[in-house]
Amino acid sequence: MSAPSAPTSSTPVPAAASATPGHRRILVTSALPYANGQIHIGHMVEYIQTDIWVRSLRMHGHEVYYVGADDTHGTPIMLRAEQEGITPKQLIEHVGKEHKRDFDSFGISFDNYYSTDAEENRVLCESIYESLKAAGLIDARDIEQAYDPVKEMFLPDRFIKGECPKCGAKDQYGDNCEVCGSTYQPLDLTNPYSVVSGATPVRKTSTHYFFRLSDPRCEDFLRSWVNGLAQLEATNKMREWLGDKGDAKLADWDISRDSPYFGFEIPSAPGKYFYVWVDAPVGYYASFKNLADARGIDFEEWIQPGSKTEQYHFIGKDILYFHTLFWPAMLEFSGHRTPTNVFAHGFLTVDGAKMSKSRGTFITAKSVIDTGINPEWLRYYFAAKLNHTMEDIDLNLEDFQARVNSDLVGKYVNIASRAAGFLIKRFDGRVLDSAMNHPLLQLRAAVPQIAALYESREYGRALRTTMDLADAVNAFVDTAKPWDQAKDEANSAALHETCSVSLEAFRLMSLALKPVLPLLAESVEGFLGIAPLVWADVSTPLSSSQPINAYKHLMTRVDPKQIAALIAANLESVAPGQAVAAASAAVSKKAAKIQEPEAEGVISIDDFAKVDLRIAKIVNCTAVEGSDKLLQLTLDVGEEKTRNVFSGIKSAYQPQNLIGKFTVMVANLAPRKIKFGLSEGVVLAASADDEKAEPGLYILEPHSGAKPGMRVK
Ligand code: MSP
Ligand code: ZN
Repeated sequence: MSAPSAPTSSTPVPAAASATPGHRRILVTSALPYANGQIHIGHMVEYIQTDIWVRSLRMHGHEVYYVGADDTHGTPIMLRAEQEGITPKQLIEHVGKEHKRDFDSFGISFDNYYSTDAEENRVLCESIYESLKAAGLIDARDIEQAYDPVKEMFLPDRFIKGECPKCGAKDQYGDNCEVCGSTYQPLDLTNPYSVVSGATPVRKTSTHYFFRLSDPRCEDFLRSWVNGLAQLEATNKMREWLGDKGDAKLADWDISRDSPYFGFEIPSAPGKYFYVWVDAPVGYYASFKNLADARGIDFEEWIQPGSKTEQYHFIGKDILYFHTLFWPAMLEFSGHRTPTNVFAHGFLTVDGAKMSKSRGTFITAKSVIDTGINPEWLRYYFAAKLNHTMEDIDLNLEDFQARVNSDLVGKYVNIASRAAGFLIKRFDGRVLDSAMNHPLLQLRAAVPQIAALYESREYGRALRTTMDLADAVNAFVDTAKPWDQAKDEANSAALHETCSVSLEAFRLMSLALKPVLPLLAESVEGFLGIAPLVWADVSTPLSSSQPINAYKHLMTRVDPKQIAALIAANLESVAPGQAVAAASAAVSKKAAKIQEPEAEGVISIDDFAKVDLRIAKIVNCTAVEGSDKLLQLTLDVGEEKTRNVFSGIKSAYQPQNLIGKFTVMVANLAPRKIKFGLSEGVVLAASADDEKAEPGLYILEPHSGAKPGMRVK
């Protein structure tokens, strides 16, 4: 059994690591986002954290590959595609493009972004599975599970709801109660129902395949592997899962799912599929294999036991179990190298609370770009809050504005704008070479320390150190007073020195900030007329042989209006007028004014505006089993997810005749749970006052051209 490969401790930093350029070969991954939702700023914490690390390592000249992919398999993706009336492959292709767009816009520098639904992944999964089987670590066992008799499928825990068996709270998921916190089996719920069809689940037996994690070989291996983990909290968690030696606490892991399932079929097991969490981490290797083939990298050399290369996985704390137990054990016993380390981070909250759609703080990456927020502001802010631990981090929107404006614009960019004008006007844009030895520039000694802080994922400390330098430079400028020096020709040499020193200090700070602000660094390189900065450039000062270019503004300030617009853009199902009001209220903490209605029975325009009427496209429509009144409609109202609405129109319409039609829905009605499931709004239909005298129901339909999600007002 091999010991875990080369553990690096999180702090202090291995000093040698940054010394020799290009001597390390490093594979880095971020967790693969699910292909059924948009990328939000919570995800971005992770991709930004990884990207900063990767960029900093590349600046040492190491051979670094950063790969990612969409996590495309599993039941939720299958059902979502079905709801939208498209195939899972169409869904994941579409979402994959959106994810790539979002990562690009945030400067996430993947060397390859791929998909788990790829041939390379199928081949790797099959081979890992066959090896585990040959090692005697796969078992087949019959188990009893919840089954939806209407939809004819086994139900994952999250697709069963009912009343909590402990406290009786309604509408709880099949795995745990959000009210009392107790955990249980899905069929322990009182009055359980399938979220997919509303039917009552039954018990059904089926053969499943298990990875025998309880085998003493796995336990022994994991016990030794845990010693290589850098993070104390992760190590402690793992020790807790492993329990004391001898009283094996690890349960075997169910790695198969029954058809219908979107995934890879298990070899020689027709109708059985690999559980998505099997092929997801293997997807790291599939993405790297795809890159290796394109670039002529020796893939086998990177994945074989004893490989001299390094392999790191950045993840959120919620998926630690998969990455510190299952994945290393899968690799170890299928004859592969194991990860060098796994780095887990905490969760993002916004203004101290979990991200929330109703508060507009479930902020998508796209909305950031659409509202003109500079993604590098967020990169800076997240970095300032990140360290090597699994602590949660908070995006405080007021603090965000204040910090970006004061640090980046006030302290850093300002240094360049003050010096550049004089240098160009008076000195032909050329620095004074002798000024490069000015005592202030001893601050360059801090740069390798900052690089080391990036490597140990102490980004907050790296940025605090950088801002301390900025304070020192600004103090230097305030004392030298170039604006006074410029008034008298006799002080020309002193002015030249002041500007040269501050510009060189600015170059050093730009170097220190480059992993966090790569785009800004590029503009700075253009402005200073220098080659792309790497860590070794710390000792290559600006030179009079290369004049600087005219200063163009490098970064604007955060405008509070942009923050209000950002919140408004993420408020779900609220009328636009209200959205802006609520957003301003959230930002300025002042309540919006509400007008009184004029007379009884008459409503004000504000009252009317409260009803959020939207154009909806009926993407699916089915009869509801057991109801003679209801049809179940799946509506596209231009949101990330479709809406499920039960409507009492069965007497007037054949379900198939409504599919593809447009109508109008009330989109901000509180969701209501009925016997058959959750109804998320109502559609508008006309009928006579006396339905008995004049029967008939008529769904409203807009003139052609109206698009899903358009507001009706
Ligand atoms: N598909 C799995 C990962 C498979 S890796 C082989 C998954 N996907 S996810 O889309 O839910 O999350 C992707 C990553 O984003 C995870 O590491 C997760 O922890 C992280 N985050 C998701 N929401 C987050 C926050 N609110 N805050 C910080 N990180 C968050 O899990
Ligand atoms: Zn409960």
